[in-house]
Amino acid sequence: MNLKKLIDEDRFGGVFRVHRSAFTSAEIAALEQAHIFQRCWLYLGHESELPNAGDFRRRTVAGQPLFWVRGSDAQMRVFYNSCTHWGANVCRVDEGNAELFQCFYHAWTFNNQGDLVSVPDEAAYGEGFHKEAMGLTSPPRVDNYRGLYFVSFNRDVEDLISYLGNAKEYIDLILDQAEEGWRVVPGTQKYSVRANWKMFSLNSLDSYHVRPLHSTFFKYTESLGSGDPPPLPPIDFPGAQGRSLSLRNGHGIDIFPSLARARPIAHWHPILGEESKEEIRKRRAGLVEKFGEERAYLMCNTNRLMLIYPNFALHDIAGVSLRYFEPVGQEYMEVTVQTLAPRGESAGLLNRRLENFLSFLGPGGFAHPDDIEAMESAQIGFRAGGPEWIDASRGMHREATALDELHVRAFWRQWHANILGYAKAERHHDALDGERISEGTKR
Ligand SMILES: [Fe+2]
Repeated sequence: MNLKKLIDEDRFGGVFRVHRSAFTSAEIAALEQAHIFQRCWLYLGHESELPNAGDFRRRTVAGQPLFWVRGSDAQMRVFYNSCTHWGANVCRVDEGNAELFQCFYHAWTFNNQGDLVSVPDEAAYGEGFHKEAMGLTSPPRVDNYRGLYFVSFNRDVEDLISYLGNAKEYIDLILDQAEEGWRVVPGTQKYSVRANWKMFSLNSLDSYHVRPLHSTFFKYTESLGSGDPPPLPPIDFPGAQGRSLSLRNGHGIDIFPSLARARPIAHWHPILGEESKEEIRKRRAGLVEKFGEERAYLMCNTNRLMLIYPNFALHDIAGVSLRYFEPVGQEYMEVTVQTLAPRGESAGLLNRRLENFLSFLGPGGFAHPDDIEAMESAQIGFRAGGPEWIDASRGMHREATALDELHVRAFWRQWHANILGYAKAERHHDALDGERISEGTKR
C-alpha cells in the first residue's frame, strides 16, 4: 500500500479526496494505533466523576484497560488495570468507591494510591521480592485542562496545553458559561457502532449533514415554537452559515449563531420549559456583566461542534455533551456519551436539560440514531468495489462556512502526517485552508 497516496489533494485545483482504505484496512488501523493512539493525548474523563476519596472509574483507552481513582490522600491517579502478579484486572466494575482493590486471582491487595499492601503467605517469597516495588503502574502522562483529564502513553508527548492548540480558547468559551463549575450528570450512555472510528470524528464536525439527515428533529423542535430571539451580534460575526475552523493539531470546530432550536446553556427555548426562563436569562445577564456583551454573545448565542483530535467531541448544541469513541479493529467502535451541566443549575432545569439531551443525542433520540445509521451505512458502502475515494473538498475555494469541510481536511492532514510518521502537519498561516503535510516534523 502506498501510504503517501491515501490523500489526493490539489489545493489550487479544489481537489481533496481520501482513499477508502483509510476506513477498511487492517494495516492502516494498526498504524493508527501505533502513530496516533499511542502518541497523542487521549480524553479520559471529567474531574467531577471522582468527587470523593476512594471514587473510581474504569476506562479502556486505546485498547488498554485502565482505572482512574481518587486516593485517600485526595490525589487523582490513573493505573493500568492489571495486577503486578499475574496480570488479571484488579478493578472489575465500571465505577464505585473503594479503599482497597483486591485481585480476584490470588488476592493480592492494593490500596487506592496503588501501593501493594498485602500478599497472602508473603513469607514464601525470597529476598528478591520487593513488595514496595510491586505497586500498580501508571501511564506515563496524565494531565488536565480545566477539569478535563487526558492521558498519553507517550512519555515524550508535548504538554497538554500546547497539544490543545487553539481548541483551548473554545473550551474556555464553553466552560466559562458556568462560573460555579461543571459536573458530569450521572448516567453514561454506552453503545457500539459498526463503523470505523473516524466516521464519528468526521460526523462530530460536520454540519452539512444536519438538515438532510435530522429532518425529524427539526420538525419536532419547530413544532414547539421559537425561543428567545437571539440578539443582534455586537461584533463582526459570520452570518447564519457560521464558520468552519481548524484549531491546529487536527482539532477543529464549527461555530455558528444559535438557531432558536440549538440550545446552549444560557439561551432559552421552549424545550427547556416556561419555568426555566428566568433562570436562563439570569445566567446570561450574569455573563454579560462578567465578560461584556461581545464575549457573552459568543458564549450564549453561538453553538460549537468541536473535535479534539483524534477521538473526543465536545458539543454545546443540546447542552454540553462529551463523546469519545474507542476503535476496535477497523470496522467497529465503542462510544461513550456524557452530559456536563452547570453545578448551580436548579433540579427542574437540569431535568429539562437531560430530557432535551436524550431527545437529541440519546439512543432513542430524534437525531443521533440517524448519525449511527449513516455511519454504518457508509461503512457498508465502502465494501462496494467501484468508487475508491471519499470527497472532502467542500468550500476549498472560499472562506469556509460551517457547512464546509475545512476542519475535516485539517483532521485528515494531521491524520495523514501521523500515518506517515510525522508528529504534525505543516502549517501554512497564509493559506485559507490551513495545514498541509508536504514537510511535516518527523517524529
Ligand atoms: Fe448528526
